Amino acid sequence: MSKAALKPIDTNNLDAMWMPFSANRQFKRTPRLLVGAKDMHYTASDGRQILDGTAGLWCVNAGHCREPIVEAIRQQAAKMDFAPAFQMGHPTAFELAARLAQMAPADLNKVFFTNSGSESVDTALKIALAYHQATGQATRKRLIGRSRGYHGVGFGGISVGGISANRKQFGMELPFVDHLRHTHDPARNAFSRGEPAHGAEFADDLERLVQIHDASTIAAVIVEPVAGSTGVLVPPKGYLERLRAICDKYGILLIFDEVITGFGRLGTSFAVERFGVVPDMITLAKGLTNATVPMGAVLVRDKMYDAFMNGPDHMIELFHGYTYSGHPLAAAAGLATLDIYAKEGLFERAAGLSSYWEDAVHSLKGLPHVIDLRNLGIVAGIELESRAGKPTARAFDVFLDCFERGLLVRTTGDIVALSPPLIVSKGQVDQMFDILSGALKRAA
Ligand SMILES: Cc1ncc(COP(=O)(O)O)c(C=O)c1O
Repeated sequence: MSKAALKPIDTNNLDAMWMPFSANRQFKRTPRLLVGAKDMHYTASDGRQILDGTAGLWCVNAGHCREPIVEAIRQQAAKMDFAPAFQMGHPTAFELAARLAQMAPADLNKVFFTNSGSESVDTALKIALAYHQATGQATRKRLIGRSRGYHGVGFGGISVGGISANRKQFGMELPFVDHLRHTHDPARNAFSRGEPAHGAEFADDLERLVQIHDASTIAAVIVEPVAGSTGVLVPPKGYLERLRAICDKYGILLIFDEVITGFGRLGTSFAVERFGVVPDMITLAKGLTNATVPMGAVLVRDKMYDAFMNGPDHMIELFHGYTYSGHPLAAAAGLATLDIYAKEGLFERAAGLSSYWEDAVHSLKGLPHVIDLRNLGIVAGIELESRAGKPTARAFDVFLDCFERGLLVRTTGDIVALSPPLIVSKGQVDQMFDILSGALKRAA
């Protein structure tokens, strides 16, 4: 007899679920449960409305429970729930791929579907390695990430990632990996508005790695154009251009991880347009379906795809894919999401709002504990001085205080990050910073 048949389930019992990236014991003592969502707000289990300052987890860019997306998912679920992704296809996935190719810059015209940012990253790294094999450069096996980078939680992602907490519990990662230095330079750049003025030369760190390893061993460099999860690090002016130039000089592929920066977060479709630098691959997820159905994608340059299209045409060209690559529900949600972005001009809206946002962020200057403020598009990082001997505690208190008062923020270490849905109004921006400044003043 199954265990379920023995006992009815107590829905207040939180024991069974092992929560991701969470302090399980603390949460289960004082749970914060969300039970509904609409547009800019969550509904908490006690009925309170919570203003969403983080677009969920940087992903609900068009706001919550948007009817056209809900309807598209409903219709697709009723029409065809699933289609095999290997050696078979369905029109909605092809249509979404074509739409993404249309949106993407330059010749980033090929789309490989995944189910998450982590899978997009691992897919891009594998494509980089396989591309070099396909073009007779099999010695190019080394993958370069960056200190403080976040690229998800697969073994590829944690290996090129540069946040030690995400690596050290596991004791091993991929071989043939190295890291660039990060771009954070508070001595010169604290309280910069938008892109910091100093630090383009940090890209030259790639020259150092080329010297150590030799270009013939390096497959790809992966960076987040704006590092999000580590606490919002905006690239110094000229940094990404310089990184691109050095990659070109040595035949190294450049991957932009746009899982956060994609879909309007910086006021453009992708960070690529915001910075005018074109990588060889772009990893996407989150805003692709407005986070309604899990989906990720890798955008790949035509010439890379073409390099695989050799040999007998009945042969599989890339031995990689997921059962749910291009899942019908996700594809339908993706199409409806892209429609909303276009119809409502949400990326342009974000661009239009960004200077108001910037002023609001920098209005926190001078408040207790604030040691740096960073912003770009509709993203902010508010760095607090750590409490002596208790790193992360102060920001977590601010998070709890904000939640009590009806605002969801996100914290990493002692940095508070904000990234609301792009439908946020100026009044809601004011409300967000009112609540946050109150919490900062109250924080011990
Ligand atoms: C830049 C970046 N890459 C990858 C990921 C991983 O995405 P997922 O959690 O969907 O696997 C994230 C998640 O925040 C991210 O910010």
